[in-house]
Amino acid sequence: MKKHRITVITGANSGIGKAAAHRFASEGHTVVMACRNMERSKPVLKEIISKTGNENITLMELDISSFQSIKDFCHDFMSRFDRLDILIHNAAYFNHGEKYRLSADHLELTFATNVFGPLHMTELLLPHLKKTEEARILNASSNIIKHFFDPKRDIELENLKGENTSDKSFSVYKMYCSSKMALVILTFILAEEFRQHGVKVNALQINGAKMSKSTLQKVTPGWRTVAIIQNLFFPPPEKMGDLYYDICTAEEFRDVTGKLFNDKKEIIQPALPDPGLSAQFRQLFSGVYYPLYADNRENREKIWKFSKEVIKNK
Ligand SMILES: NC(=O)c1ccc[n+]([C@@H]2O[C@H](COP(=O)([O-])OP(=O)(O)OC[C@H]3O[C@@H](n4cnc5c(N)ncnc54)[C@H](OP(=O)(O)O)[C@@H]3O)[C@@H](O)[C@H]2O)c1
Repeated sequence: MKKHRITVITGANSGIGKAAAHRFASEGHTVVMACRNMERSKPVLKEIISKTGNENITLMELDISSFQSIKDFCHDFMSRFDRLDILIHNAAYFNHGEKYRLSADHLELTFATNVFGPLHMTELLLPHLKKTEEARILNASSNIIKHFFDPKRDIELENLKGENTSDKSFSVYKMYCSSKMALVILTFILAEEFRQHGVKVNALQINGAKMSKSTLQKVTPGWRTVAIIQNLFFPPPEKMGDLYYDICTAEEFRDVTGKLFNDKKEIIQPALPDPGLSAQFRQLFSGVYYPLYADNRENREKIWKFSKEVIKNK
């Protein structure tokens, strides 16, 4: 018999998150749509309920870039539900071309949304994840992390607390790339931390999914043109929504933890330490290797320590 699962999906009002919410709902699960903009999200909630006939869909307010909003959400969620089976960190900030912006907690917005927020929320929800036999967490990463095949590439943590707001060389694209690498690193670390509790933590490397009109509006005109062209080749968001569903529910992945999946549901392997030229090319384009940056002990310690300190001090 199919297990009934209580699932939280962040950013479930649009794109892949919406598609995933629809899929979980159509399979009869309880879905909590954790969304920032309630006005935009209410019609989506109605649409999912009417299309799937599943009434166990709840919309709850969450701004994942704000520690106070995360605390309020988790408190409210834990008082309304007795456990959490699946947590999907789908929401992300990727307003390419935008200037340097700070979150409510005075943290650079890309990292606040894509890294610190998800980590804080995961830790606050751990007591509820521990209450279920088969808890699974999935983090949405991106093939943009391939920039870290460049050995000179590093995650710079110096400009995340508003130190240099007028920095002309600032780029959301670069920050987004670093944030998705940091998220992969945190996936690997949390998988080890939570092993003792039986909570599985994995990430999905998304190569692309068609973006909605409202998502295209978030990026500046130059980036919008690039995204419109990419959209011609990208699969529909439902494909990624189905991947979220499979990775979080399939029996074959029940014991898998600390892994990065590609969009063929294969586990991506660490890159070769000294690849020749043809292997380098394969690493970049095959989607079956991830950069060794993510496995480096110093990098892991740096990201972990910094993220934990940021959360502790807020
Ligand atoms: N589409 C692609 O080609 C692609 C490629 C690689 C990776 N990804 C990843 O896939 C995931 C989903 O992206 P998508 O393409 O489906 O984009 P999308 O349609 O723009 O969805 C992003 C969602 O995140 C929400 N969000 C943003 N900031 C938030 C905040 N502070 N608090 C709560 N929610 C927030 C947005 O809500 P609002 O409506 O309130 O803005 C929206 O619902 C992201 O993690 C993205 O990085 C996508």
